[in-house]
Parts: sequence; structure tokens; C-alpha cells
Amino acid sequence: MNYQIINSFINKFDPELSHSLAIQFLKNFYIPIFSSKDDEILKINILGKEFSNPIGLAAGFDKNAEVYDKMIALGFGFAEVGTITPKPQEGNLKPRVFRLLEDEAIINRLGFPNEGLIKIKSRIETKKTEGILGINIGPNKDSVSRIDDYIECFKNFHNLCSYICINISSPNTENLRNFHDQENLKSLLSEISKIKKILDSKIPVVLKISPDINDVDIDVICKNILEFNLDGLVLTNTSVKLRESLLSTQKNELGGLSGAPIKENSNLIIKKFFKIIKNQVPIIGVGGISSGISAYEKIRAGASLLQLYTGLVYKGPFIVKTIKQELAELLKKDGFSSLEKAVGVDSK
Ligand SMILES: Cc1cc2nc3c(=O)[nH]c(=O)nc-3n(C[C@H](O)[C@H](O)[C@H](O)COP(=O)(O)O)c2cc1C
Repeated sequence: MNYQIINSFINKFDPELSHSLAIQFLKNFYIPIFSSKDDEILKINILGKEFSNPIGLAAGFDKNAEVYDKMIALGFGFAEVGTITPKPQEGNLKPRVFRLLEDEAIINRLGFPNEGLIKIKSRIETKKTEGILGINIGPNKDSVSRIDDYIECFKNFHNLCSYICINISSPNTENLRNFHDQENLKSLLSEISKIKKILDSKIPVVLKISPDINDVDIDVICKNILEFNLDGLVLTNTSVKLRESLLSTQKNELGGLSGAPIKENSNLIIKKFFKIIKNQVPIIGVGGISSGISAYEKIRAGASLLQLYTGLVYKGPFIVKTIKQELAELLKKDGFSSLEKAVGVDSK
């Protein structure tokens, strides 16, 4: 059956209900492996790993690490779970996820609902996967010290995954984005670097950034990530802006906007960072990817790896296969011998 037909049926449900049905389905049913052979041109070595393709599952879809192995079997090159906080928490009051159908977008104000690190850690310990797993960490809403929360998560997860993503950019945890400021960012990154030394951990650490930042913020972030030898950036999280041009009646719901309407702004942020950091710090590009061309634009802007969430909601699980095919064709058509050669060509 065509996914558009299935999707028009799914759209009649509350978005959170559809999402938990999807998670239950993925958890309980056998998923045939679709990822057996990716085109060689999509291969890339980043973060000390070989990725057979650059398309990753963005954080937020598999908050409790229940289905990342199934998503990798569907063809994703890697999956990021979380955001995980030290203690379990419910998140904000419902309704808190809105599908903006006319705009191919979502607004969410979930506020990190998750089962907490103890439960999720034991799930990850028992769930073996050959694939590349990123773990996205954040603080509890009522935390006494947010930095201590990041450290607690880091200690528990650093030896269970391929990279740790420090999320400072959710708009739905009050003032979390203050970590984009010079002093706060410095304190956070210096504590992360201390704990890495104490634990003698070699795990790559990436930082997930808001799209709602200005050029001064970008300079501050670049300075800090270079000073603290961060391994990568995830650009970008959802936006609290960009509402003017939306068509949906739900456009003014509070929360973070994702999907098609944030694509251009995310690309612009990737270009600005790439111009400063060049190839010193790899970028994972995310925001509005729903086709091979939108994936290719982000690679050309400066991303070495990609992630998506909203595109999966609108186009269904086969989007991954389509994007990989289209991306491989686009690279070949433009004469690139590898994905790596196309990274940042529009930002030089
Ligand atoms: C419903 C929903 C929940 C999300 N939850 C998280 C989260 O817990 N942590 C996080 O870092 N990003 C979260 N995100 C942001 C995505 O990871 C991604 O950065 C953003 O949606 C832009 O990508 P997209 O346009 O492909 O969706 C969430 C996004 C959506 C739509």
C-alpha cells in the first residue's frame, strides 16, 4: 500500500498516539534488513567510525532506546537515541505535539519525557547492535545542577555507544539554551573534558545547537569547541522562530518547529559554521531533510553526516532508501568520487 494512503489514515490520530503505535510496531515485529548493501559512494569515515551511509535517525524519535536496532535495519547509517535525563520524567502537559500538515512540519513542546538513565541504560546493555549508536543527553527539568546531570549521563553512557551528543538546544526545557552563552558553555565543556580525562574515555562528544542563534553566538561556540577539542556539531535542533510564512492554523503553538520550514535556516547555520571551522570539526546536518536533494544540499553546505525526524513522519520508513539512492545519483552526476569530496563545496 502507498505510504500516502497509510499516512492520511495515521494523520487522523493524535500525533503522540501514532508515534507510540509506530514504536510498538517496530518493537514487536520482525523488520527485514534493508541495509545490506549501500552504494560505495555514500561511505564516510567520521568520529573514528566507518559509516556505510550518512543518513541517521535524529534524536527524539527513539527517546527510550527501544527501536534503534530496528531503525538501523531499515537502512539508517546510524541512530541517535534520547534525549535521556538522569531521572525519569513525564515532560510537559498534553497536547504537546502538533502536525502542521500544510507545511510538512511539526511543532513539539514535549520537554524530554523519558524513562531515565537507569532503565534506558539496562535496555541498551541488553540490546546488541552492529550499527552505530549515538546517545543524546540532557538535564532534568527540576535539576539542582544541570552540569551535574550532563556529567551523570556521560558517566553512565560513555562506554555504551559510538558517540555522546550533548543537547543544549531544546526550546522546551526552560533556559536550557543559556548554555549557548560564553561562560555557561565554557563551564559545561570544561566539566565534560575533566570527566573524560578522569574516566580515560575516548568517546567522541558532539554538541547539538539551536538554529535560533546569531553570528556572535556562532563565533563563541566555534571558539569553545576548538578550545575543548570537541569532536563534532549537530546543526540544528528545532526553531522557536520562522512562524510567519506557515500556512497551518496551529502555527502559533508554543514549542520547537521542525521539518520543511526550517531547512533553509539550518543550511545557513551549517554554512556559517563550516566557513569558520572548515574540516577541523565535522558537522551532522539536520533540519528539513525529506529527499535526496535536501540531503545533498546539507552535504554541500558542510555536513559530513545527516539526520532526520520529521521527513520520516511525513514520508514513511522507505524515505531512507529513497534518499540514499537519490543522493548517490546526485553525487555521481556532479562528478564526485566520494561523499567526502562534496562536503562544504558550497561554503568555500
Ligand atoms: C517530536 C520531536 C521530538 C524531538 N525530541 C528531541 C529530543 O528529545 N532531543 C533532541 O536533541 N532533539 C529532538 N528533536 C529535534 C530533532 O532531533 C531534529 O533536530 C529536528 O526535528 C530537526 O530535524 P527534522 O526537520 O528532520 O525533524 C525532536 C523533534 C521532534 C519533531
